[in-house]
Amino acid sequence: MTTVKSIHFQFLPLSMRVLFSMVLIVFGIGYLMAMIQVWENHAGKDGDPMLTAKDLMISYSGNPEGTKLESSLRASMADMLPAEKRQVIFDWLHAGAKQEEFEGKINPILQEHCVMCHTPEANPHLPNFTNFEGVSKVTAKDEGMNLHTLVRVSHIHLFSITFIFFIVGYIFSHAYVRPTWLKCVLIATPFLVLITDVASWYLTKVWTGFAWVVIISGAFMGMSFAAMWLISMWQMWFFKPPQAIAEDDGRVPCIQR
Ligand code: HEC
Repeated sequence: MTTVKSIHFQFLPLSMRVLFSMVLIVFGIGYLMAMIQVWENHAGKDGDPMLTAKDLMISYSGNPEGTKLESSLRASMADMLPAEKRQVIFDWLHAGAKQEEFEGKINPILQEHCVMCHTPEANPHLPNFTNFEGVSKVTAKDEGMNLHTLVRVSHIHLFSITFIFFIVGYIFSHAYVRPTWLKCVLIATPFLVLITDVASWYLTKVWTGFAWVVIISGAFMGMSFAAMWLISMWQMWFFKPPQAIAEDDGRVPCIQR
């Protein structure tokens, strides 16, 4: 029977502990920014300013009662124009988004507050608000994120998050955590829930209940990140490893086989 061992934080050179700590600090700030970004993108779409499962259902699978223009104006585009003008657009949408009223009532608002970004020249990926046809793409029934956008966002997500959790998990592998299975669960969880998270974006289109899997996956990812972060930082600078490990030059038994 051989015992595989890893080196505990406290026995790493100071330079390496500084490197690990700095990476964790920047990732921690990055994680907070990512949470704010999730909030900005989704919260408020259902009319309730909090982030709810309904918001995620609307983002991914659409909203049978609403249009993309309305969901965006309740969420990420809400601050682009004053509330009275927003109401004018909502009233127009609720009355059927007719072309007759578009020129007189709606177009001037879009010209003043939206077209600086929403033209093919400014941003070819955004709906074009220089004419009625472009606007009518977001006044049709809200079908949620299209497959093209989902594929783009999911491949970025899968690659970048794997990269982040490889680094965080590698740093954390120098910690002393017993029982060993718990340490392994903490390392594996973010990767597993990354897969369920991304898969649920697509599945929410089939059954909106999968929005809950998106939320639960995100919660588990956040908890494992926080646990690995805190344990690593604490053991790197404050923790006194058990006697047996100190006597073995910092080697932590990982698995026996
Ligand atoms: C400062 C630039 C900017 C301005 C001004 C702006 N938008 Fe946007 N808009 C964006 C960006 C960037 C996105 C894509 C990211 C997002 O949804 O937050 C977007 C997305 C949208 C979407 C969703 C498009 C889709 O297919 O998912 C709608 C609808 C929208 N904007 C409407 C408006 C309206 C209406 C206004 C004016 C009241 C406006 N925007 C003003 C930059 C802008």
